[in-house]
Parts: sequence; structure tokens; C-alpha cells
Amino acid sequence: MKITVVGAGNVGATCANVIAHKELANEVVLVDIKEGFAEGKALDIWETSPINLYDTRTVGSTNDYTKTADSDVVVITSGLPRKPGMSRDDLISTNAGIVKSVTENIIKYSPDAKIIIVSNPLDVMTYVAYLSAKVDSSRVFGMAGILDTARYRSFLAEALDVSPKDIQAVLMGGHGDTMVPLPRYTTVGGIPVTELIDSEKLDAIVERTKKGGGELVNLMGTSAWYAPGAAAAQMVEAIVRDQKRVFPVCAWLQGEYGLKDIYLGVPVVLGKNGIEKIIELDLNAEEKALLDESAKAVKDVMDVFDNMNK
Ligand code: NAI
Ligand code: 2OP
Repeated sequence: MKITVVGAGNVGATCANVIAHKELANEVVLVDIKEGFAEGKALDIWETSPINLYDTRTVGSTNDYTKTADSDVVVITSGLPRKPGMSRDDLISTNAGIVKSVTENIIKYSPDAKIIIVSNPLDVMTYVAYLSAKVDSSRVFGMAGILDTARYRSFLAEALDVSPKDIQAVLMGGHGDTMVPLPRYTTVGGIPVTELIDSEKLDAIVERTKKGGGELVNLMGTSAWYAPGAAAAQMVEAIVRDQKRVFPVCAWLQGEYGLKDIYLGVPVVLGKNGIEKIIELDLNAEEKALLDESAKAVKDVMDVFDNMNK
């Protein structure tokens, strides 16, 4: 088993470190455009192997995709964060260019790979990768829902003073302020969360979750990496171990939830073939309206990208 992580920055290196530590593959290849950066991160991770007791080899590459050949799973984290003076459209255009060229190189050397996108704006970058890879959508999908649900679950664990392990939740929609955490599908050790917390506190946790990425940017001056890296690695694990895990994943919708030709977060079954099934929940009118609003926000950004390429 071989895994490539493109972008050896904060999220990419963290993801590679978790993959290696968990021995999810024989080899992890880190790729970055910055000369020597991926090689350095890969060497540093490899030097933890005698301490953390694993065998996974970590290899770095400065933009040499021959080293990525025959990867089973590829995680794409390359992209710029938004800089002062940069408009949202500039960011879409810059990151779309990066994601497109990276995806084309990946597919050239690993035509059978499953591709997980992490770069932002997530839903639209997953769309860009899908257009560039020209493979079935079951093999191209985005990471956001596991991270956003993890934030929601960790806030609930804190508020209820219970183990985060016992909190299960579903969250849908785009990776942004319009995401839709679903309290009706949230349980604590099998108990509906609404029986354990009052609605005011729950609403506050839902709102904090929606702004969870921004909360960390405000604290650190840059976006998060521990939870995002671990979340992407959890998707890799589900694929390489064919676990058939049920996760919220950014998937290509073709009529599910009444939505078509859009990448959006929905619950799926993730296994060795990538997305093996999209699960359709019986949403009530309020939940469906929130999902439609989120889909509209994502579609607006997809349109910005499509219009740039007319
Ligand atoms: P970072 O700046 O630490 O790392 C990005 C790396 O990509 C840099 O090392 C850069 O040299 C590299 N890179 C740029 N162009 C490249 C190219 N053409 N080929 C190969 N490498 C290239 O950024 P960080 O914090 O790791 O974030 C990465 C991306 O992930 C950002 O777009 C960020 O917004 C996004 N993100 C998404 C999350 C999600 O839930 N989907 C969560 C956290 C971050
Ligand atoms: C996050 O949610 C900014 O997408 C990034 O942390």
C-alpha cells in the first residue's frame, strides 16, 4: 500500500505523520513545490519511527511525481491560505490552478488512485479535482465533514462532561458558515442529545461549530492542522482497510437530496472503492431548507469558478 500527500505544509505533514504512525501503508510520499521542504518533513517524520515504533517509510519529493507512481490513495492539501488584499475570487483562481495541475500529475502516475481533497474552498476544489481527474466521482471526494463533526462532537463532550468517543453525529452541507449540524441525528451513547442538553446550549454549540474554522484562525493567525490532518488520515484508513465507515464526506450529487451536479457534504459509506454508497436521510422540512441554503452557497462559488473558465 502506498499513499501520497501533496502539500507538506501544516495539514499535509500532520496527515502524513498520522498515516505513518498508524502504519496505514508501506510508504508515504510527501510532495511540495518548495525546494527541499517535503524531503525535510518526510525525514523528520521518518526519524520518529524508532520512537513511535512503526515501519512505514516516509519519502519527500520536490514536485517529482514519478516518486508518487502507483499510489493507492492521494490526499491533496496544496494551496494558499487567503492573504491580505487577496479577494475570494483570486483565492479560487490560484488554488484551482494548483489543484488542477496537481490532480493531473497524480492521475498520470497513479491512474487508479482514490483522491481526497483538503484544499479550500473545499467543495469547489473537490469539483476542480473531479473535472481534472476525469475518473468516476466515487474516487474523488473532499474532507470537511469529519473535521466539522469532530468539532461539534468535542464541544458537546465538553458541555456534557462525557467521553467524545460516545458522541455520534451527522453534519451535512458545504464547508463554511452554512454547514448543517443535525441535532436530530446526534446521540450520546445511543441517547438522543436533545434529552441531555437544553436547546439554548445546543444551539450555541451548533453556531460555534459552523464558525469552528474561523475560531482557530482568530486564535492562531492561520488555519488549523491537527484535527484536519487527523480527519484526512481517518478517511485514508477507511479506504486502505476497507472499513466501510459511515462518514460525512464532500461527494458529487446526482439527484440525491434533490440536488444535482454539485459537490456537497453528505453521509457516505467509505471503503476500498472510495465512496461505495451515498446515504439519503429522511430530512424534515427545516433541515432540508438549511441544506438547500448551504447548497446554494456552494453553487455560487462553483459558478464563480465555471465563469472564470468560460
Ligand atoms: P500550508 O500553507 O501550511 O501548506 C500548503 C502547502 O502547499 C505549502 O507547503 C505549499 O508550498 C504547498 N504548495 C503550494 N502549491 C503547491 C503545488 N503546486 N504543488 C505542491 N505543493 C504546493 O497550508 P495548510 O495549513 O497545510 O492548509 C492547506 C490547505 O488546506 C489550505 O487550502 C487550507 O485552507 C485547507 N484546509 C482545509 C480544511 C478542510 O477542512 N477541508 C481544514 C484545514 C485547512
Ligand atoms: C478549517 O475549517 C479553515 O477549513 C479550515 O479549519
